[in-house]
Amino acid sequence: ARRLILDVDTGTDDAVAIMHAALHPDLELLGVTTVSGNVGLANTTDNTLRVLDVIGRSDMPVYAGLAHPIARRGFPGQKHYERDTARDMHGTSLPLPEARSQAQDVTAVEYLLETLRSATEQLTLVPVGPLSNIATVLAIDPSLVDAVDELVVMGGAHAHGNVTASAEFNIWADPEAAAMVFSAGFERLTLVPLDATHQALVTRANCAAMAALGTPAGAAAADLITRRIDAYSAGSGISATDAAPVHDAVCTAYLVRPDIVSTQHVHVTVDTESTLTVGRTVMDTRPNATGTPNAHVAFSAHAATLVAELTNTFS
Ligand code: BDR
Ligand code: CA
Repeated sequence: ARRLILDVDTGTDDAVAIMHAALHPDLELLGVTTVSGNVGLANTTDNTLRVLDVIGRSDMPVYAGLAHPIARRGFPGQKHYERDTARDMHGTSLPLPEARSQAQDVTAVEYLLETLRSATEQLTLVPVGPLSNIATVLAIDPSLVDAVDELVVMGGAHAHGNVTASAEFNIWADPEAAAMVFSAGFERLTLVPLDATHQALVTRANCAAMAALGTPAGAAAADLITRRIDAYSAGSGISATDAAPVHDAVCTAYLVRPDIVSTQHVHVTVDTESTLTVGRTVMDTRPNATGTPNAHVAFSAHAATLVAELTNTFS
């Protein structure tokens, strides 16, 4: 089984990714680290515990991470750090029973440092929120990139963003962290941007099939994805009426079904300077591109593969 750590800002789509990674027989989820993003840190951590409880995986250790971006007092263009940033889409607390378990005493950064330093074999890291925790770990010990066989990031956009015309939320929320991570020299960095996740849409019919599985994970996934579809059709995202992207789950599905995406190895940089396009991931797809490729970017993804992967795993 592939050994991994998930780094999340739970969030409805993070929730689906957590359930997938925790339940898939070929994935060995070692721990879950949290970061502020979709909602504030207390809620991303609490939501993560709720998700693990509901699927009977309260044994999974959860470590709370950074409550703010690494170099800013707030999100770009905001004076102060604003909690509950994406609450329209995600709700502050996920609609799941209150968590019975608690986060560990050790922080996410301490846990990541310790785990990567003591690992005898390389691990996979899957950050699907702002990259604040990962960047902090690398700032403390840049050599730890060597302990990671693959970093699979949900973030960025080539065609258009979601929080601004240029920027995708996870990168925009901590652009300096993203810039550090992209230039850190990981052996393999796979980037799953909106260009891919907006192709892997999950429909209401798919949700009905998940609900019909009669399992806690199937029921929870169906409810959470249905809420996403409702929010997207209400106009807070792409113009799909009966389907929604489940961004973060494309990353965990990719771990077991790499063919879910088509990637191109390109040079990616993050705009940390401008006010207009801060947080934009600039992907040099020119035939005569300059700069050494640093990311395998997924430019497309396959919806049926995602749906099959989720439905089978939740059965
Ligand atoms: C990303 O931002 C968050 O809203 C989601 O959980 C996902 O990780 C999509 O832009
Ligand atoms: Ca997320």
